[in-house]
Amino acid sequence: MSAARVRAFAPGRVNLIGEHTDYNDGLSLPFAIVEGVTVDAMLRPGREVVGGGPSPLVSAVVEELRAAGQEVPGAEIGISSNLAEGEGLASSAALAVAVALALLGLAGERAERVERVELVRLCQRAEHRALGTRSGLLDQLASLCGSEGHAARIDFRSLEVDPVPLGLLGWRLGVASSGERRELAASGYNERRAECERAAEMLGVGSLRLADGSDIDRLPDPLNRRLAHVLSENDRVEKAVTALREEDLAGLGRLLDASHASLRDLYDASTPAVERTVDRLREAGAAGARMMGGGFGGSVLALFGPDVDLPRGVRAVAPAAGAHVLAS
Ligand code: GLA
Repeated sequence: MSAARVRAFAPGRVNLIGEHTDYNDGLSLPFAIVEGVTVDAMLRPGREVVGGGPSPLVSAVVEELRAAGQEVPGAEIGISSNLAEGEGLASSAALAVAVALALLGLAGERAERVERVELVRLCQRAEHRALGTRSGLLDQLASLCGSEGHAARIDFRSLEVDPVPLGLLGWRLGVASSGERRELAASGYNERRAECERAAEMLGVGSLRLADGSDIDRLPDPLNRRLAHVLSENDRVEKAVTALREEDLAGLGRLLDASHASLRDLYDASTPAVERTVDRLREAGAAGARMMGGGFGGSVLALFGPDVDLPRGVRAVAPAAGAHVLAS
């Protein structure tokens, strides 16, 4: 039965580690956060889907739902958000996932019955179409699969998601904006993605997940450095899972630092504003800090020991529930 009104919520995400690995069939360790996007959809039979701005992303989600054979009834939608936009916290993915869940709910499709992989792929296609960034599946999967108290180890080759308890033992994670908006970064992001595809093609493998360390020297610069980042970042995700399991938070901090150095030196994804933010957080006592998300601006993630006060401008983040329908 279809509902007259559905409210759906989808959270933003923090990625603990595993950056620019998703579109290389690699590994990431994100978690959903408390902040996110709430979408209210009201049935308006005989009309189009209206409201929400108008937002090209909302229209793209509607088009992708229809292309996937889903019935999308006429509706009026309202959007509210407490998630910072353009700061690398996946606000676009949260909007796409919330709109999709709300419209599916209106059509009488219960969110839990819709194939998770189908839904995240559909939202990804909508983002590609509306925003022009060829993003991977990290943001959508993190938003949909979040669970309180846990990060999610995602293997993008199989799309398997394993919850990993994020027990921080009094340590805290915080994010700070670099002041540089992420949305200006589409061209840099797409260029990195194209470089990885070129590297895989030159090596004759389907994705960089299937390459190994001996392949690095077979590639010209900068493709050799892109591969070196992807391989070492996948490895750091596994080490971060082990560090969490062994309650080695100082070790986790060192992995965040190493991820940042790799993204800066091998992936060329940092900016002076991001570097200043990382330096400021380390000087303020962070045990590790790194650029987060696509890079080229956006937010910095940092880990603080139990005795260190969160510096000015740093917002504490903790793992929260994934996207869900709130009421219908
Ligand atoms: C952005 C993209 C993701 C992912 C990250 C980098 O957030 O949307 O798909 O590629 O950058 O890890």
